[in-house]
Amino acid sequence: MCGIVGYIGKRRAMDPLIEGLRRLEYRGYDSAGLALLQDGSIEVVKAVGKVSSLQEAVAAHWPDEATSKVGIAHTRWATHGPPTVANAHPHVDGDRRFALVHNGIIENYLALKTQLQRRGRTFYSDTDTEVLVQLIASCYEGDLVQATAAALKQVEGTFGIAVLCRDEPDHLVVARRGSPIVLGLGRDETIVASDVSALVAYTNQVIYLDDDDIAVITANNVELRTIDNVPVSREVAHIDWDTTAAEKSGYEHFMLKEICEQPTAIANSIRGRLDDTLGTAILSGLDLSQHDLALINRVVIAACGTSLHAGMMGEYFLEDLADIPTEVEQAAEFRYRNPIIGPNNLILAVSQSGETADTLAAVREAKYKGGLVASICNVVGSTIARETGRGVYLHAGPEIGVASTKAFTCQVTVLLMLALRLGRTRRLSREMGLELIEELRRLPDMVRTVTERAPAIEQAAKRFHDAQGMFFIGRGYLYPVALEGALKLKEISYIHAEGYHAAELKHGPIALLDEHVPVVALANDVPGRSKVIGNMQECRARHAPVIATATDGDPDVAQHADEVIWIPRASRFVAPVLTVVALQLFAYYFARERGCAIDQPRNLAKSVTVE
Ligand code: M6R
Repeated sequence: MCGIVGYIGKRRAMDPLIEGLRRLEYRGYDSAGLALLQDGSIEVVKAVGKVSSLQEAVAAHWPDEATSKVGIAHTRWATHGPPTVANAHPHVDGDRRFALVHNGIIENYLALKTQLQRRGRTFYSDTDTEVLVQLIASCYEGDLVQATAAALKQVEGTFGIAVLCRDEPDHLVVARRGSPIVLGLGRDETIVASDVSALVAYTNQVIYLDDDDIAVITANNVELRTIDNVPVSREVAHIDWDTTAAEKSGYEHFMLKEICEQPTAIANSIRGRLDDTLGTAILSGLDLSQHDLALINRVVIAACGTSLHAGMMGEYFLEDLADIPTEVEQAAEFRYRNPIIGPNNLILAVSQSGETADTLAAVREAKYKGGLVASICNVVGSTIARETGRGVYLHAGPEIGVASTKAFTCQVTVLLMLALRLGRTRRLSREMGLELIEELRRLPDMVRTVTERAPAIEQAAKRFHDAQGMFFIGRGYLYPVALEGALKLKEISYIHAEGYHAAELKHGPIALLDEHVPVVALANDVPGRSKVIGNMQECRARHAPVIATATDGDPDVAQHADEVIWIPRASRFVAPVLTVVALQLFAYYFARERGCAIDQPRNLAKSVTVE
């Protein structure tokens, strides 16, 4: 969840380190720090708050600018200990011979800390990370990579680390287990990061470390081995997006930019994947033959957060179009529930980042149990994509806003294509396949129609922005959309928002309704609409204002609602995508009106790489 950057090469290290941190700020951002090897000693500067606070501290510390060409940096999302300067990374040992940045959790840190304290080492922070640097210092006998390997062998938990040693100024040592580390190979420079967005400004040639890899990095070379000192080589991958993809490009927030990018993102998810001859979708990354696909007798989708909601959409698609029994699992529960994985079961991990710890753990458990495992990820080369080895990339481009938007609609689009593909190996007719293809092709333009209605949605959001809480209700395909609409609102506006099945409301939550708690009712003209209209009346009878989504031209919904958000007419398969885009805009303008930090909401991080 934290961000790591390391640099060694021809430039002043400060520049790529600060620039990298700025680009990683969305991952975690309660404090930041950096360490440089400067004139034979390690110097560390840290600050609580955003990277801009660190920049001020750096300017004060080095008024004449630091010239060092090697350093490490970190932006923190607190796990052990509050966000203070002492707890910010990098951490150093007592002699300041080593500095280290870490992403992950050292689970046995208390036992290790006690041992080290007994041996006379003093600790200066509450973090689990400090144990690592002290442990490396205690293992050091003149070889940083050996000391790092020896320390990491004693550690339980997850880590992505970069280590600097005062006595070995010509290289950095990095390692990973469970937390991503990517190496950017530039000309006469090497950049280390926890996320490619920190290094695309310098190179698009990268190496992703595998678990238990250790790398010795110089400006011109990367030497890889395992923690057991076995030399290994890893493929050099090519990143196909540049820095402009990760800029705001004139938008006030990344979230708004990413909402508005959805027509293009969805078009990219679809591109080259529709087959008019057979009326099907081509998902070659699945690497499964027609025969393999026909044998699949159950699908289990594992995901978290917004990706879980996309997975729920997938359940409807797969059962409706492909007649395949499908279950959706919270990835965090998957491995603890002793899941039943039978022959020909497809386990599908859905993850924007491809790094979510719980989803990754579900992948590993499913593989261990012999399941056929595939993924739907956005980030190319991410751990989940690599470990599943087969799957479908979204091609949505980098998603920077913490609140996931374009990844969700692209996940749903890909899941619809998967259902189409699996459906066509079963009873789904070519005609029905062609109808779906036609709708998929129209989807980007229909989404654009919704984004063009932003001013009306903004007015609706402003009208209700002082609500004390909000419910989102829907049925059928619009039920996961209700959950997603509520998640969007709560994560960026900090008001209590709950998504419920419209029928469940009167089994308890209706007790919370009054004139201060509006209900967003998803009453589009798809199956379940008339029942939702009935539920809207129940809400209004309890004085709750109702904001409805309705299909263009609907003659009935408006008379039972205080506000209507109009959605273009579309089938039950596609209407949810259009509706969620409207709810994303609603949440965005609602939070903006309340003055919330939209791209970096409090307590949240973009990528949840700890359990
Ligand atoms: O990268 P992933 O899709 O695996 O992330 C899963 C969730 O952490 C993520 O969707 C989270 O819920 C978002 N902040 C929601 O907007």
